[in-house]
Amino acid sequence: MASQWRSQLSVKAVDASAYPGIIAADKLVYPTSNGLTEAVLSRWFGKHPEFGLIFLDQATGRTVANCIVVALCERGWHLLTEGKVTESELDGDLLFDAARDDTIGLHVYHLEKSSSEYPQDVPRFGMVALDAIAEVLAALRRTRPPGRPLEVCGFSGLTVTRLGCSLFSNLYGCRERAYVCKEHLLLSEDGALEVHEAETQEELQRLLQPPSGGNGRGRTYVLRARMLVVTPDEPSLVWSAIPARA
Ligand SMILES: CC(C)(COP(=O)(O)OP(=O)(O)OC[C@H]1O[C@@H](n2cnc3c(N)ncnc32)[C@H](O)[C@@H]1OP(=O)(O)O)[C@@H](O)C(=O)NCCC(=O)NCCS
Repeated sequence: MASQWRSQLSVKAVDASAYPGIIAADKLVYPTSNGLTEAVLSRWFGKHPEFGLIFLDQATGRTVANCIVVALCERGWHLLTEGKVTESELDGDLLFDAARDDTIGLHVYHLEKSSSEYPQDVPRFGMVALDAIAEVLAALRRTRPPGRPLEVCGFSGLTVTRLGCSLFSNLYGCRERAYVCKEHLLLSEDGALEVHEAETQEELQRLLQPPSGGNGRGRTYVLRARMLVVTPDEPSLVWSAIPARA
């Protein structure tokens, strides 16, 4: 994709001052009890803060979007996308380390644009985000010693909103694999978003049932969280923007 958005948006690496905002924004769409902490974010971005992409409108200097990518080693990426560890458990040896690893897995933890502040005349953020990730990867590849190319083993996101699910499945060509996340997003009667695990129809039915003896309507179903994944052997816009091999 042409980088014409570069004349309007600039990108900076995440720093600790942005962590509370990122956590709050993610909580709004995914209020899991197993949420992220600032300590986890500082471990994710300790070595490679450049994967926490913050987009600013050059005209106003204001933040208009973010795309928070966790850079993982191959094992870490497989464990996450196979549901064997959760996002908040990504740590230590599971994270990508340029000095050690020749393969990287890209997991989008959160991406979001401000619908009021994101400029209307730049491409949709889903494309801009890929373009920006590609530039981070290209810069990382330039630092590699000769004979040690860096390959991408996969791209993923745990999608928890309709827009996120549509972006990852329709535009990015990602899909759910053997790991089927059992988390369901429901709205309480007060309109609060909740995350609940339900493995069976009976469990889900119980969650949706109105409280007995009252006039309540019960919870409203929103969607099931999905771990959506694409690997380099599958055609995808992701690999058009982000070369899996240099
Ligand atoms: C996910 C997100 C970053 C995608 O941004 P984007 O790539 O710029 O895409 P848009 O939000 O503009 O458009 C998303 C969809 O709505 C459609 N759309 C946008 N504006 C529209 C309009 N005025 N009328 C009808 N459809 C519209 C687009 O065609 C697109 O449809 P598609 O996914 O079926 O192709 C953005 O929607 C967002 O910030 N959402 C809130 C946070 C969120 O849900 N994050 C994902 C968590 S998993």
